[in-house]
Amino acid sequence: MSAQVPNLPQHVAIIMDGNGRWAKNRGLPRIEGHRRGVETVRTTTYAARDLGVRMLTLYAFSIENWKRPQEEVGALMSLLEYYLKKELQTFVRDHVRLRTIGRTEELPAGVQEVLRSTIEATKHFTDYTLVLALNYGSRTEVVDAARAYAAAVAAGKEKLNDGSWATFSRYLQTADMPDPDLVIRTSGETRISNFLLLQAAYAEFVFAPVLWPDFTKADLAAAIAEYNRRERRFGLTSEQLLSPAKAAAK
Ligand code: FPP
Repeated sequence: MSAQVPNLPQHVAIIMDGNGRWAKNRGLPRIEGHRRGVETVRTTTYAARDLGVRMLTLYAFSIENWKRPQEEVGALMSLLEYYLKKELQTFVRDHVRLRTIGRTEELPAGVQEVLRSTIEATKHFTDYTLVLALNYGSRTEVVDAARAYAAAVAAGKEKLNDGSWATFSRYLQTADMPDPDLVIRTSGETRISNFLLLQAAYAEFVFAPVLWPDFTKADLAAAIAEYNRRERRFGLTSEQLLSPAKAAAK
Protein backbone atom coordinates (compact mmCIF):
# COMPACT_ATOMS: atom_id res chain seq x y z
CA MET A 1 0.00 0.00 0.00
CA SER A 2 1.37 3.41 -0.90
CA ALA A 3 1.88 5.99 1.82
CA GLN A 4 -0.94 8.49 2.24
CA VAL A 5 0.04 11.81 0.67
CA PRO A 6 -1.19 14.66 2.86
CA ASN A 7 -3.86 16.45 0.94
CA LEU A 8 -4.63 20.01 1.90
CA PRO A 9 -8.18 21.31 1.85
CA GLN A 10 -8.18 24.33 -0.48
CA HIS A 11 -11.28 25.82 1.06
CA VAL A 12 -12.06 25.51 4.77
CA ALA A 13 -15.36 26.83 6.12
CA ILE A 14 -15.99 27.31 9.84
CA ILE A 15 -19.14 27.63 11.93
CA MET A 16 -17.75 29.62 14.85
CA ASP A 17 -19.80 28.50 17.83
CA GLY A 18 -19.46 28.77 21.59
CA ASN A 19 -18.73 32.45 22.30
CA GLY A 20 -21.71 32.70 24.66
CA ARG A 21 -20.77 29.58 26.61
CA TRP A 22 -17.15 30.70 26.84
CA ALA A 23 -18.32 33.92 28.51
CA LYS A 24 -20.91 32.19 30.71
CA ASN A 25 -18.28 29.74 32.01
CA ARG A 26 -16.36 32.75 33.28
CA GLY A 27 -19.33 34.72 34.61
CA LEU A 28 -18.83 37.33 31.88
CA PRO A 29 -21.43 39.01 29.62
CA ARG A 30 -21.97 37.25 26.26
CA ILE A 31 -20.38 40.13 24.38
CA GLU A 32 -17.06 39.37 26.09
CA GLY A 33 -17.23 35.96 24.40
CA HIS A 34 -17.78 37.64 21.04
CA ARG A 35 -14.90 40.02 21.72
CA ARG A 36 -12.61 37.06 22.36
CA GLY A 37 -14.16 35.40 19.31
CA VAL A 38 -12.93 38.28 17.16
CA GLU A 39 -9.39 37.60 18.40
CA THR A 40 -9.79 34.00 17.25
CA VAL A 41 -11.04 35.24 13.85
CA ARG A 42 -7.79 37.17 13.57
CA THR A 43 -5.51 34.29 14.60
CA THR A 44 -7.40 31.69 12.53
CA THR A 45 -7.21 33.86 9.40
CA TYR A 46 -3.43 33.65 9.55
CA ALA A 47 -3.26 30.10 10.90
CA ALA A 48 -5.20 28.82 7.89
CA ARG A 49 -2.94 30.66 5.50
CA ASP A 50 0.20 29.38 7.26
CA LEU A 51 -1.13 25.83 6.93
CA GLY A 52 -1.56 26.25 3.17
CA VAL A 53 -5.32 26.81 2.91
CA ARG A 54 -6.29 29.12 0.01
CA MET A 55 -9.77 30.17 1.12
CA LEU A 56 -11.31 30.48 4.57
CA THR A 57 -15.02 31.13 5.01
CA LEU A 58 -16.26 32.17 8.46
CA TYR A 59 -19.93 32.14 9.46
CA ALA A 60 -19.90 35.46 11.29
CA PHE A 61 -23.61 36.38 11.35
CA SER A 62 -26.54 34.30 10.20
CA ILE A 63 -29.91 35.58 9.04
CA GLU A 64 -31.37 33.94 12.14
CA ASN A 65 -28.98 35.88 14.42
CA TRP A 66 -31.16 39.02 14.05
CA LYS A 67 -33.56 37.31 16.47
CA ARG A 68 -31.04 37.61 19.32
CA PRO A 69 -31.53 40.36 21.94
CA GLN A 70 -31.18 43.77 20.28
CA GLU A 71 -28.30 44.65 22.58
CA GLU A 72 -26.30 41.61 21.45
CA VAL A 73 -27.03 42.25 17.75
CA GLY A 74 -25.93 45.88 18.13
CA ALA A 75 -22.75 44.81 19.93
CA LEU A 76 -21.94 42.24 17.22
CA MET A 77 -22.37 44.88 14.49
CA SER A 78 -20.13 47.32 16.38
CA LEU A 79 -17.51 44.61 16.85
CA LEU A 80 -17.63 43.79 13.15
CA GLU A 81 -17.15 47.42 12.15
CA TYR A 82 -14.32 47.88 14.64
CA TYR A 83 -12.63 44.65 13.49
CA LEU A 84 -12.81 45.58 9.80
CA LYS A 85 -11.52 49.12 10.37
CA LYS A 86 -8.62 47.69 12.34
CA GLU A 87 -7.82 44.94 9.84
CA LEU A 88 -7.97 46.90 6.59
CA GLN A 89 -4.29 47.93 6.55
CA THR A 90 -3.22 44.48 7.75
CA PHE A 91 -5.11 42.79 4.93
CA VAL A 92 -3.52 45.14 2.40
CA ARG A 93 -0.07 44.57 3.90
CA ASP A 94 -0.45 40.79 4.02
CA HIS A 95 -2.29 40.37 0.70
CA VAL A 96 -5.46 38.93 2.21
CA ARG A 97 -8.40 39.31 -0.14
CA LEU A 98 -11.70 39.96 1.65
CA ARG A 99 -15.08 39.08 0.25
CA THR A 100 -18.50 38.35 1.65
CA ILE A 101 -21.52 36.16 1.10
CA GLY A 102 -24.95 36.98 2.47
CA ARG A 103 -27.39 39.86 2.19
CA THR A 104 -24.86 42.52 3.17
CA GLU A 105 -27.13 45.26 1.82
CA GLU A 106 -29.26 44.78 4.97
CA LEU A 107 -26.33 45.43 7.36
CA PRO A 108 -25.92 48.81 9.11
CA ALA A 109 -24.58 51.54 6.79
CA GLY A 110 -21.30 51.89 8.71
CA VAL A 111 -20.55 48.16 8.33
CA GLN A 112 -21.45 48.26 4.63
CA GLU A 113 -19.13 51.19 4.07
CA VAL A 114 -16.09 49.58 5.70
CA LEU A 115 -16.85 46.30 3.93
CA ARG A 116 -16.96 48.10 0.58
CA SER A 117 -13.64 49.84 1.11
CA THR A 118 -11.89 46.71 2.41
CA ILE A 119 -13.17 44.55 -0.45
CA GLU A 120 -12.13 47.20 -2.96
CA ALA A 121 -8.65 47.63 -1.44
CA THR A 122 -7.93 43.89 -1.46
CA LYS A 123 -9.69 42.72 -4.62
CA HIS A 124 -6.48 42.18 -6.63
CA PHE A 125 -4.97 39.65 -4.22
CA THR A 126 -5.13 36.09 -5.46
CA ASP A 127 -3.19 33.87 -3.04
CA TYR A 128 -5.52 33.82 -0.07
CA THR A 129 -9.14 34.85 0.45
CA LEU A 130 -11.09 35.40 3.64
CA VAL A 131 -14.83 35.13 3.08
CA LEU A 132 -17.12 36.49 5.78
CA ALA A 133 -20.63 35.06 5.73
CA LEU A 134 -22.67 38.01 6.97
CA ASN A 135 -26.45 38.04 7.20
CA TYR A 136 -26.07 34.71 5.42
CA GLY A 137 -28.47 31.78 5.25
CA SER A 138 -28.29 29.01 2.71
CA ARG A 139 -32.03 28.78 2.11
CA THR A 140 -32.28 32.53 1.48
CA GLU A 141 -29.33 32.31 -0.88
CA VAL A 142 -31.09 29.54 -2.84
CA VAL A 143 -34.36 31.50 -2.98
CA ASP A 144 -32.48 34.58 -4.25
CA ALA A 145 -30.69 32.42 -6.84
CA ALA A 146 -33.93 30.78 -7.98
CA ARG A 147 -35.51 34.20 -8.42
CA ALA A 148 -32.55 35.45 -10.48
CA TYR A 149 -32.52 32.25 -12.53
CA ALA A 150 -36.27 32.50 -13.23
CA ALA A 151 -35.80 36.12 -14.32
CA ALA A 152 -32.99 35.06 -16.66
CA VAL A 153 -35.24 32.36 -18.16
CA ALA A 154 -38.07 34.89 -18.58
CA ALA A 155 -35.65 37.28 -20.30
CA GLY A 156 -34.54 34.53 -22.67
CA LYS A 157 -30.97 34.49 -21.26
CA GLU A 158 -31.29 30.90 -19.99
CA LYS A 159 -33.18 27.98 -21.46
CA LEU A 160 -35.26 26.15 -18.85
CA ASN A 161 -34.66 22.76 -20.45
CA ASP A 162 -30.88 23.23 -20.27
CA GLY A 163 -31.11 23.65 -16.50
CA SER A 164 -28.30 21.84 -14.67
CA TRP A 165 -26.37 22.30 -11.44
CA ALA A 166 -23.57 23.92 -13.46
CA THR A 167 -26.02 26.49 -14.80
CA PHE A 168 -28.05 27.08 -11.63
CA SER A 169 -25.02 27.35 -9.33
CA ARG A 170 -23.88 30.38 -11.31
CA TYR A 171 -26.75 32.26 -9.66
CA LEU A 172 -25.57 31.48 -6.12
CA GLN A 173 -23.43 34.04 -4.31
CA THR A 174 -20.66 31.47 -4.21
CA ALA A 175 -20.61 31.16 -8.04
CA ASP A 176 -16.92 32.01 -8.34
CA MET A 177 -15.81 30.18 -5.20
CA PRO A 178 -14.66 26.56 -4.97
CA ASP A 179 -16.90 24.34 -2.82
CA PRO A 180 -15.64 23.91 0.75
CA ASP A 181 -13.54 20.76 1.18
CA LEU A 182 -13.69 20.85 4.95
CA VAL A 183 -16.38 22.31 7.22
CA ILE A 184 -15.53 22.70 10.90
CA ARG A 185 -17.99 23.52 13.67
CA THR A 186 -16.66 24.37 17.09
CA SER A 187 -18.25 23.94 20.53
CA GLY A 188 -19.23 20.28 20.17
CA GLU A 189 -22.57 21.02 18.47
CA THR A 190 -23.21 18.81 15.44
CA ARG A 191 -25.49 20.88 13.21
CA ILE A 192 -25.06 22.64 9.85
CA SER A 193 -27.42 25.51 10.75
CA ASN A 194 -28.26 26.72 7.24
CA PHE A 195 -24.59 27.14 6.24
CA LEU A 196 -23.47 26.39 2.65
CA LEU A 197 -25.96 23.51 2.44
CA LEU A 198 -25.55 22.88 -1.29
CA GLN A 199 -21.89 23.83 -1.54
CA ALA A 200 -20.96 21.41 1.25
CA ALA A 201 -22.59 18.46 -0.52
CA TYR A 202 -19.25 16.60 -0.69
CA ALA A 203 -17.38 18.36 2.11
CA GLU A 204 -15.89 16.53 5.05
CA PHE A 205 -17.21 17.65 8.43
CA VAL A 206 -15.20 17.93 11.62
CA PHE A 207 -16.97 18.81 14.86
CA ALA A 208 -14.40 20.19 17.28
CA PRO A 209 -15.33 20.14 20.99
CA VAL A 210 -13.48 23.39 21.73
CA LEU A 211 -15.40 26.68 22.17
CA TRP A 212 -14.60 29.23 19.44
CA PRO A 213 -12.62 31.69 21.63
CA ASP A 214 -10.32 28.78 22.60
CA PHE A 215 -9.85 27.49 19.03
CA THR A 216 -6.14 27.48 18.12
CA LYS A 217 -3.88 26.83 15.16
CA ALA A 218 -3.27 23.36 16.64
CA ASP A 219 -7.04 22.68 16.58
CA LEU A 220 -7.17 23.75 12.95
CA ALA A 221 -4.18 21.56 12.11
CA ALA A 222 -5.88 18.64 13.91
CA ALA A 223 -9.06 19.15 11.84
CA ILE A 224 -6.97 19.17 8.65
CA ALA A 225 -5.18 15.99 9.80
CA GLU A 226 -8.60 14.38 10.37
CA TYR A 227 -9.63 15.49 6.86
CA ASN A 228 -6.53 13.75 5.55
CA ARG A 229 -7.56 10.49 7.14
CA ARG A 230 -10.89 10.55 5.32
CA GLU A 231 -11.45 9.10 1.88
CA ARG A 232 -13.47 11.44 -0.32
CA ARG A 233 -15.26 9.31 -2.87
CA PHE A 234 -17.70 11.75 -4.55
CA GLY A 235 -20.07 8.84 -5.17
CA LEU A 236 -17.38 6.49 -6.54
CA THR A 237 -16.04 3.29 -4.98
CA SER A 238 -12.66 3.02 -3.24
CA GLU A 239 -11.42 0.84 -6.11
CA GLN A 240 -12.37 3.44 -8.67
CA LEU A 241 -10.47 6.09 -6.72
CA LEU A 242 -7.35 3.92 -6.84
CA SER A 243 -7.76 3.36 -10.57
CA PRO A 244 -9.32 6.48 -12.17
CA ALA A 245 -9.27 4.84 -15.64
CA LYS A 246 -11.91 2.32 -14.47
CA ALA A 247 -14.16 5.11 -13.20
CA ALA A 248 -13.85 7.04 -16.48
CA ALA A 249 -14.69 3.88 -18.48
CA LYS A 250 -18.14 3.52 -16.80
C1 FPP B 1 -21.70 31.78 17.99
O1 FPP B 1 -21.50 31.86 19.35
C2 FPP B 1 -21.10 32.87 17.27
C3 FPP B 1 -21.79 33.86 16.63
C4 FPP B 1 -23.25 34.01 16.68
C5 FPP B 1 -21.16 34.87 15.81
C6 FPP B 1 -19.70 34.74 15.62
C7 FPP B 1 -19.16 36.07 15.80
C8 FPP B 1 -17.90 36.36 16.11
C9 FPP B 1 -16.83 35.38 16.22
C10 FPP B 1 -17.52 37.76 16.37
C11 FPP B 1 -17.76 38.72 15.24
C12 FPP B 1 -17.18 38.29 13.95
C13 FPP B 1 -16.32 38.97 13.18
C14 FPP B 1 -15.91 38.43 11.87
C15 FPP B 1 -15.73 40.24 13.58
P1 FPP B 1 -22.79 31.82 20.28
O2 FPP B 1 -23.04 33.20 20.74
O3 FPP B 1 -23.95 31.19 19.55
O4 FPP B 1 -22.30 30.88 21.41
P2 FPP B 1 -23.20 29.95 22.34
O5 FPP B 1 -23.82 28.91 21.45
O6 FPP B 1 -22.22 29.39 23.31
O7 FPP B 1 -24.22 30.84 22.99
